[in-house]
Amino acid sequence: MSLLLCIETSCDDTSAAVVDTGGAGGLDGAGGPESAGGPHGAGAALIRSSIVSSQHESHAAFGGVVPEVASRRHTELLVGTVAAALADAGVAWDDLEGVAVTTGPGLIGALLVGLAAAKAIAYARRLPLTAVDHLQAHLAASYALGVTAPFVCLTASGGHTLLAVVERGVEFRVAGRTLDDAAGEAFDKGARLLGLPYPGGRELDLLAARGEPSFVAFPRSLPQGLDFSFSGLKTALLYYLREHQTEAATEALRASVAASYQEAIVDQLVGKTVRCAEQEGLRRVAVGGGVAANSRLRRRLTAACRERGLEVFIPPVALCTDNAAMVGLAARHLEPIAWPQYLGLDAYAAEPALRALRVRR
Ligand code: KG4
Ligand code: ZN
Repeated sequence: MSLLLCIETSCDDTSAAVVDTGGAGGLDGAGGPESAGGPHGAGAALIRSSIVSSQHESHAAFGGVVPEVASRRHTELLVGTVAAALADAGVAWDDLEGVAVTTGPGLIGALLVGLAAAKAIAYARRLPLTAVDHLQAHLAASYALGVTAPFVCLTASGGHTLLAVVERGVEFRVAGRTLDDAAGEAFDKGARLLGLPYPGGRELDLLAARGEPSFVAFPRSLPQGLDFSFSGLKTALLYYLREHQTEAATEALRASVAASYQEAIVDQLVGKTVRCAEQEGLRRVAVGGGVAANSRLRRRLTAACRERGLEVFIPPVALCTDNAAMVGLAARHLEPIAWPQYLGLDAYAAEPALRALRVRR
C-alpha cells in the first residue's frame, strides 16, 4: 500500500483524492468490460476517495469560467476539499507516502493554487511530489477499468481534443487532433447559441435526449486523416438558428436541433476513433475528458466498437470530468520528485507535453 494525496485545480473544479498506488488491481490488471457509468472496475480499489468541489455557481452569472474567479475560489475551497478527501478515505496525514498534482496545461492562476498547496503539504511532511500533466491524467482514467496499453484514447475536454495512442503507462503519441475548436468548446458554444445555461455541454446533452438527431443535416466536413474540426459546425448552427428563429423557439424543435448538432460532433469523434484503432492495429479503445461524459458519445462509441470487435473502456462520468483521482492513476506511471527538489517546480498554461511526446502528424 502506498497512499498518494492528489490535487487537481486546472480549471473550475477544486478536487482532491486519495489513491493507493501499490494496491490490488495494479498496473497489469486484466482488461475489464466497458462501463457506461456503473461501478468502477478492476482499478477501483485504488481510488480510496475522490472529492470534487464544483465552482459552477461562481461562474454561472458570467456564462463561462472567469480565470481570476476560479483562482480565488480554489484558494477558498482547497483546504476543505483536501480535508474531506482524507476523511473520506479514513486516512491520516501520517499515512501519506506522497503528493501528486496537476501542473498543466490549464488556467495558470488556477494551477498555481493547487501546485502551491501540493508543494506546501509535501514539503512540510517531507514527502516526494509527482507532477502530472492534465492530458495524461485524462487518459489514465481508463486504468480504473483495467485497460492495458497499448490502446487508443479519445481525449476530449473543454480545451483539447486528440486521439492519443497510449504506448506504455501514460506515454502517448498523437495520431490526430483538432485543427480549431475543442469538442467541449463546440458543445459549450452550441449550448450558448441555443440559449442554454452554463456549463453548456451537459445541458445540451440533456436537451438533445428529447430530440431527433436526424432533424437537421448539419455539415460533416471532415478534415483528412485523423484530425478533427468543429468550427464550421458551430457557424452552421448559428446560421440555422438565424434562419429558423420562430421554429427553434419551441422546446421540441430546440431539442431536435440540439440532438442534430450533438450528432454531428459525435459522428466525427466516433468515426475517427474507430478508424484510428483500425489504422494502428489496436484492439482496445478508451475515452477521457469531460466530453466523454456525453451520453450519446458513450452509447455510439460502445456500439461502434462492438460492431468491429474492439474492446471499449468508458470510465464512469465522475472520472471523465475533471477530478483528482485520475491524477493519482497517472502518477502511478510517473517518477516522483524527491523532497525537497520540487520547490522550484512551475505550472504551465500551454501544452509542452504534447510537443515533447514525439508528436507525429
Ligand atoms: O475535462 P473537463 O471537465 O475540463 C477540461 O479539462 O476542459 O471538460 C469540460 C468540458 C466542457 O466543455 C463541458 O461542456 C464538456 O466537457 N462536457 C460535456 C458533458 N459534460 C461535460 N459535453 C458534452 N456532454 C456532456 N454530458
Ligand atoms: Zn480536463
